[in-house]
Amino acid sequence: MQSKLEEIRSQALSELERVGSLKELDAWRVSYLGRKGKLTQILRSLKDLPLEQRREVGSAANELKELLEERLAEREKELQEVELSVYVERSRLDVTLPGRPIELGRLHPTTQALRQICEVFSSMGFEIVEGPEVEWDYYNFEALNIPPEHPARDMWATLWIDPEKGMLLRTHTSPMQIRLMEKRRPPIRAIMPGRVYRYEATDATHESMFYQVEGLAVDKGISLAHLKGTLYEFARRLFGPGRKARFRCDYFPFVEPGVEMAIECLRCGGEGCRVCSGQGWVEILGAGMVHPKVLERVGYDPEVYTGFAFGLGVERIPMLKYGIDDIRLFYSNDLRFLEQF
Ligand code: DAH
Repeated sequence: MQSKLEEIRSQALSELERVGSLKELDAWRVSYLGRKGKLTQILRSLKDLPLEQRREVGSAANELKELLEERLAEREKELQEVELSVYVERSRLDVTLPGRPIELGRLHPTTQALRQICEVFSSMGFEIVEGPEVEWDYYNFEALNIPPEHPARDMWATLWIDPEKGMLLRTHTSPMQIRLMEKRRPPIRAIMPGRVYRYEATDATHESMFYQVEGLAVDKGISLAHLKGTLYEFARRLFGPGRKARFRCDYFPFVEPGVEMAIECLRCGGEGCRVCSGQGWVEILGAGMVHPKVLERVGYDPEVYTGFAFGLGVERIPMLKYGIDDIRLFYSNDLRFLEQF
């Protein structure tokens, strides 16, 4: 019996040396100390020995059991540490590596301009109203004092959806003046941003779709001075106080008098370039005092109420600010262009 114990001891200890993982360690434990383990079997068979021998072998076997349990615990701790450090090494992250840059999107230059415009007019007390891009002839032309066959219709090359019914893509945001005045009574102060469409060959200064912001103020006692004051302030806020703005007479059937406002072209400093088509000035909006016939049409008494209106070309703003010389760049989705803003 004693020699059997000795054998188990040396075998167990040398095997333990070779155990390389916690899993193997558990197998080792089962084979010596488990319910059917080699040492356990000896301990179980003690009861069959004569008393004398039982005491002797018993204490040696228990000693061995303690020893093996002790070594087991030590080895377990060692192996746990090894496995942890292997795990740590494998999942190591080099925090000094440069990160992968995340591509940030940005707002389209037109969106940026629209937001600036809305911000400026909101702060002056104008509300923001939107309306349909598919429009009736009545709103786009007739109610704006442009009857059928009127030669002024040639100012707006029209994309018709159904000419018979008079359904079209709005050529300007001015129909929103009518829609708003029909629904409200003065005082009115609103801007109406949105897309407009023209049936035109595109070139550096023409697109078939672009944005406008319409403006309208109607009340008792509104004059051309209010129009000029409002729009000068707008230009000052958008382009800074040093930038010149000028008004000149212009004709639009729905205003009387009609004007245009232009901003000095800073790309060429007034010399004339592609941005300003050689003029030194860039026209950014048409405006005027709402025509009495337009007011009458929506049931406002032109003897009591007057108003000013304007229609602003949105893309013109970033074109002037950044010296962009081709409007087609805005909607051709070339990232090399868009990424610059
Ligand atoms: N709707 C005009 C256009 O697209 C611009 C315009 C001119 C709007 C004068 C106005 C205005 O409100 O008063 O050419």
